[in-house]
Amino acid sequence: MNILVTGASGQLGSEIREKSTEFSQHNYFFEDSKSLDITDSEKVKEVIEENNIEVVMNCAAYTSVDKAESEELNAENVNSLGVKNLLLALKGKGKLIHISTDYVFNGKSYEPYKEEHYVEPIGVYGKTKRLGEEYILNSEVESIIIRTSWVYSSFGNNFVKTMLRLGKERNELNVIFDQIGSPTYARDLALVCLDSIDKDFSNLSKIYHYSNEGVTSWYDFAKAIMEISGVDCKIYPIETKDYPTPAKRPNYSLLNKTKIKKEFNITIPYWRDSLKDCIKKIERN
Ligand SMILES: NC(=O)c1ccc[n+]([C@@H]2O[C@H](COP(=O)([O-])OP(=O)(O)OC[C@H]3O[C@@H](n4cnc5c(N)ncnc54)[C@H](OP(=O)(O)O)[C@@H]3O)[C@@H](O)[C@H]2O)c1
Repeated sequence: MNILVTGASGQLGSEIREKSTEFSQHNYFFEDSKSLDITDSEKVKEVIEENNIEVVMNCAAYTSVDKAESEELNAENVNSLGVKNLLLALKGKGKLIHISTDYVFNGKSYEPYKEEHYVEPIGVYGKTKRLGEEYILNSEVESIIIRTSWVYSSFGNNFVKTMLRLGKERNELNVIFDQIGSPTYARDLALVCLDSIDKDFSNLSKIYHYSNEGVTSWYDFAKAIMEISGVDCKIYPIETKDYPTPAKRPNYSLLNKTKIKKEFNITIPYWRDSLKDCIKKIERN
């Protein structure tokens, strides 16, 4: 099959590119934001038609959560209209694997979010990602949406790499302890995306939740990063209110992964084990 990966130089796109060698029965077309801007509907159509694309893995997204608050139109163009462009070009031709976010929820739950839980984004990024989901849910194109959370990788910029850098520059750091969730190693998610290519989408649900197993706070996550990497930096817990940011973030964003584990028949790695693998890879590089 011919597979198009959009946003191919991002964290997830890069992991998919690396892992695609293990799924070599398919032909892959990796396009980054320069070679294929998904807000350009004509170009999207051209790339999909000329290459006979049968599956699009949409890893392209406007992911700057704080910047989105002042750049709503840009965020909406990529996260909503970009998705619409992919759907229009895929109609009658192929299927879509799309990635969404825990930020579609308001963070007020006391139990892990199931796929059918009502959505109520509290920031612009989450709002625009939800609009993208709505286009998919209202489309006839065979699609799955995988919502994920707290993504990190050896590629790109993320919390793990920032902590490793700051940990080496400073003796102590303050990190928020009152936002709870599960990290996701983009490599683990990449394998799930690649594994889903051959599935019969007519037998699948529309939305799945995926993160690594286990629960943590940003504070505990930072402590684990320092411990695993052997960086001598003290981490102190602070409250969200003491670290103001332009965007509000959900306090609680744990995702219930029962459905994907059952329907995809997968075992999900524990977050600390995946973190160890990622840090090893970062150190090797
Ligand atoms: N990162 C997280 O913590 C997180 C959490 C939950 C869900 N997600 C979702 O997971 C998915 C993958 O995220 P990620 O962490 O891999 O994000 P990422 O590293 O920021 O990658 C996103 C990629 O999309 C590209 N892009 C931006 N605008 C584009 C456009 N108009 N056309 C084509 N490409 C465009 C970016 O290219 P440039 O860099 O050149 O702009 C970047 O390479 C996204 O759907 C995101 O919403 C991420």
